[in-house]
Amino acid sequence: MERLMDRQALRRWRMGCGGRVAFVPTMGALHAGHLALVAAARQHADHVIASIFVNPSQFAPNEDFSRYPRTLEQDQVLLEQAGCGALFCPSVAEIYGDGCQTTLRVEPLGSDLCGRFRPTHFQGVALVVAILLNLVRPDQMFLGWKDYQQVILLRKLVRDLALPVEVVGVPTVREADGLALSSRNRYLTPADRQQAVGICRALESVQCSWQGGERRLEVLLASARQVLASFEIRDIDYVELRDAETLEPLLAQEQQSVGQRPVLLIAARVGSARLIDNRVLS
Ligand code: PAF
Repeated sequence: MERLMDRQALRRWRMGCGGRVAFVPTMGALHAGHLALVAAARQHADHVIASIFVNPSQFAPNEDFSRYPRTLEQDQVLLEQAGCGALFCPSVAEIYGDGCQTTLRVEPLGSDLCGRFRPTHFQGVALVVAILLNLVRPDQMFLGWKDYQQVILLRKLVRDLALPVEVVGVPTVREADGLALSSRNRYLTPADRQQAVGICRALESVQCSWQGGERRLEVLLASARQVLASFEIRDIDYVELRDAETLEPLLAQEQQSVGQRPVLLIAARVGSARLIDNRVLS
């Protein structure tokens, strides 16, 4: 696997690629969820390139940018074993030059759900992904469905800017007990870890009610909140049922009978970690 540190090396690598190129953007601290993205990418493309860049612009000053796990050497071994062809790991200056003056806002989606609690987060994500896509020029970009809002938002960005790339979502990889893999799970103490699985249990409980025919929005949301409470998860940012394609709120007439294909989204803090997870009900 080639390790590319700057734009010039990336350009040279890219010019040597015949056929389809798939891109897996990451912030490193890789786990099996990231490796599933590489595996999916390999099925679709002749060349797979991953990036590792802990993007400062998607963290607010009070967030975990400085303590975000950085495990570059280990990540490189994992990517190599997964059959990734190249790794782009630029510095902040390589991405943002001598001070980027451009902002990208995908609104209102970027200010909704996680955006309500992390107001500048999706601007940072949109900006860095647009820059990375311009540099890598892939045919496809692979992202995990665990970050459901990120996938929908980046699909919108790509459509709005007519970027010639397909955004492919890959199913969430979970621990044996159901906890969604996340680089931030490293922040969990053993006691937090036992609590954290409550998020997945809440999703399962709603899925179960849904399969049993329950369609009342308030009843479905109350059941998720009840499970979270039983795991003593009290610091909840949101529990929401939204349209799975657009993430728009369900229509007023759907409050009594939720329509075809909603997605249940949860964001909550457990210990010092902010965790998100989701389940499409269908
Ligand atoms: O999902 C992530 O790891 C990041 O938000 C991404 C897409 C790599 C942009 O920094």
